[in-house]
Amino acid sequence: MDMYHELILDHYRDPRNWAILDPADIDHEEKNPLCGDRLRLTLRVRDGIITEVGWSGEGCAISQASASMLGETLVGKSLEEARAITKEDILEMLGISLGPVRLKCALLSLKTLKIGVYGLSGWHTDEE
Ligand code: FES
Repeated sequence: MDMYHELILDHYRDPRNWAILDPADIDHEEKNPLCGDRLRLTLRVRDGIITEVGWSGEGCAISQASASMLGETLVGKSLEEARAITKEDILEMLGISLGPVRLKCALLSLKTLKIGVYGLSGWHTDEE
């Protein structure tokens, strides 16, 4: 097993920021329509900066590790910086190449962030 797979399994087994924040400034849940796996992301925001992240979910190792890793990177970011996170950033973070089905797993976290947090209702994971 290589280092990147180890990292994914580590986040899957020990997810960071695993807690729903209540109250939260942003609270949104999305599902992967292919499998029904879900992710709920909650954020606290002060003066345009994300100060706390909490999430919960049910799903495969890649979707959960992706949420854990993304959550870590969000803390301390401005909303503008968070908005600028791309599909490529997520894939680079995970460090593995993925086929189209697993890509949906990897991008569930980003979809939840983009749609829920920023109201980009036209955004979806097939978009380039
Ligand atoms: Fe459901 Fe990966 S199999 S998100």
